[in-house]
Amino acid sequence: MAKLWGGRFQKSTDKKVDDFNSSIRFDKRMYKQDIKGSIAHATMLGKQNIIPREDSEKIVTELRNILSDIDNGKIEFEIDAEDIHMNIEKILIERIGDAGKRLHTGRSRNDQVALDIRMYLMDETADIEEMLLDTMHTLVDLAAKHTETIMPGYTHLQKAQPVTFAHHLMAYFEMFKRDLSRLKDCRERTNVMPLGSGALAGTTYPLDRNFVAEQLGFDAVTMNSLDGVSDRDFVIELASSLSIIMMHLSRFCEELILWSSHEFSFVEMDDAYSTGSSIMPQKKNPDVAELIRGKTGRVYGHLMGLLTTMKGIPLAYNKDMQEDKEPIFDAIDTVKLCIPVFCDMIATMTVKKDNMLKGSKGGFTNATDVADYLVKKGLPFREAHSVVGRMVFYSIENDKSLDDLTMDEFKEFSDIIENDIYDAISMETCVNDRKVTGGPAKDIVEKAIRKAKEFLNQQ
Ligand code: ARG
Repeated sequence: MAKLWGGRFQKSTDKKVDDFNSSIRFDKRMYKQDIKGSIAHATMLGKQNIIPREDSEKIVTELRNILSDIDNGKIEFEIDAEDIHMNIEKILIERIGDAGKRLHTGRSRNDQVALDIRMYLMDETADIEEMLLDTMHTLVDLAAKHTETIMPGYTHLQKAQPVTFAHHLMAYFEMFKRDLSRLKDCRERTNVMPLGSGALAGTTYPLDRNFVAEQLGFDAVTMNSLDGVSDRDFVIELASSLSIIMMHLSRFCEELILWSSHEFSFVEMDDAYSTGSSIMPQKKNPDVAELIRGKTGRVYGHLMGLLTTMKGIPLAYNKDMQEDKEPIFDAIDTVKLCIPVFCDMIATMTVKKDNMLKGSKGGFTNATDVADYLVKKGLPFREAHSVVGRMVFYSIENDKSLDDLTMDEFKEFSDIIENDIYDAISMETCVNDRKVTGGPAKDIVEKAIRKAKEFLNQQ
């Protein structure tokens, strides 16, 4: 088949090279953006009298027809036509002849692909932002039900101090809120229009770049033609933001996997979100959470792949850059697959409040509060720390928890301890006295939930 660029060649490309070079298999997903970009370019060419107005109009009309034909599955793309850009241009030329041949005036595939990928990523980013918002809604709703659900907080995966399940959930709300702002921030740098950069050195035609940018809803145009065609920072930034999202999902999934183990038994995944074993009849496995944790590695891999692809490329465009698509597309697909299942999985799980409360006791999670009690009665903190250390040692030896100690036992360690100690170190007091901004106390978490809802309503 004759290539659109075949003029200077004596031989046609080897079949193997056609297959090797071709990106249509994966870049066809950018057809909407490619056509939208070409419509804006053709309109501008007509407006600037770079091509005859009737040709510009013919091009625009036929591109719209091609768009609906693709939407309706009426078009088969060709490997030989290499990529989505040339496939569409070829169909256009087949349908309207010479007018179609004028579309590529003042444009190169290098700035065209840079435009398409920017538009595609911005569209996908908006979808992912919506999914994150749904998840944040779910977290807030779940948190609102659990401001009194006491559970152990951990450091080093050792019981540390009691918190509430609501507080724990709201920690993830904060993470997703940052993810959202990272995506918005990254979208801002993607939102720059590269057409007009040409192959690398701009063009001699009097293009109206700002008009094209406006037509396509871009906020700005790129300021250096070499950079315009060779910048893929925005792809890497997105891959990095997606990796961080996956890291957050994965951390929560790791917790859910632990918590649904018999040893913790803090939550139980809904049957619809678990799977069984082909041999062990008793098993109920948290496969969904494990798969999200597993898919995180895949997204990280894409980030590393993209960084590595870009690291040795001299300015400006090089074909290596065609390798940007599969990784970022797969990273996007993976994140879009994971967020909604994650969201539904947490919305449907059973929270075993009693086990959480039981778990928060034992393990001396109120040891800090015993020390704080002594401090409030006048003992310097370091001394109190050491007194309580001895109490913990004694309790371990006698198989007791701190609140099991009798008044006589307490007095052995310090005579300033009185009956009010029991109330001061109950799990409820431990949680609800932590009223510092960002703390786990019921009032404070309720306030955080209110603020979170306000934030969500503003989106
Ligand atoms: N399919 C190519 C890509 O994805 C489009 C740009 C090709 N430009 C070129 N001069 N070979 O990067």
